[in-house]
Amino acid sequence: MLFNFLNNMDAVKNILGLQLPTDPRWVNLAEISLEAILTDHAYCEQKAAISCISMIQRYPHRVELVNELAPIVTEEWGHFRLVLQELRKRNLTLGKQRKDEYVNQLMAPKTKGDSEDNRLLDELLIFALIEARSCERFKRLSEGLGDEYLRNFYRRFMESEAGHYTLFIELAELYIDKEKVRQRWDYWLKYEAEIMKELEVRGDRIH
Ligand SMILES: [Fe+2]
Ligand SMILES: [Fe+2]
Repeated sequence: MLFNFLNNMDAVKNILGLQLPTDPRWVNLAEISLEAILTDHAYCEQKAAISCISMIQRYPHRVELVNELAPIVTEEWGHFRLVLQELRKRNLTLGKQRKDEYVNQLMAPKTKGDSEDNRLLDELLIFALIEARSCERFKRLSEGLGDEYLRNFYRRFMESEAGHYTLFIELAELYIDKEKVRQRWDYWLKYEAEIMKELEVRGDRIH
């Protein structure tokens, strides 16, 4: 099972295995600019749906992947609509999409012209990381926001993204040797921690 798999790893620092927790000040930041947070969040959900569609288009012969990701597309798009609804309810507007340094940097070293298995492994693990980081930030919002309604709102997202994170890892383990998945996951955790550190130093706001 996934969490046993993670618990066995030396690098695990919290339940999701992320090496560097989100800066706690981020919650206060979120309260100051709810419109910006909801806008960022809306695009994250949109990108999650697009990523799943893109994987289905590139790996149609991976039957389990197609079957598992097809309903996630609907779910992520539903999340996007929920966030949009929240913006409208508060008379806030969906802002412009911001350049996503975090995701861009995360994608940079993924395996390219190599074997399909290696490419697929990296893509699944990158998506797992993005889901894990979203989940961790939603958890922080669900615990730290002053507004009870919003705390519950984010708790539901947190649970959903945790499920997606698990799914991406399980898909990787379905197609690729488990030991190889574990080793590559370790690589990606360390790499992600470096990106986080760099972005925090530069003061970039990330979702
Ligand atoms: Fe989502
Ligand atoms: Fe998700």
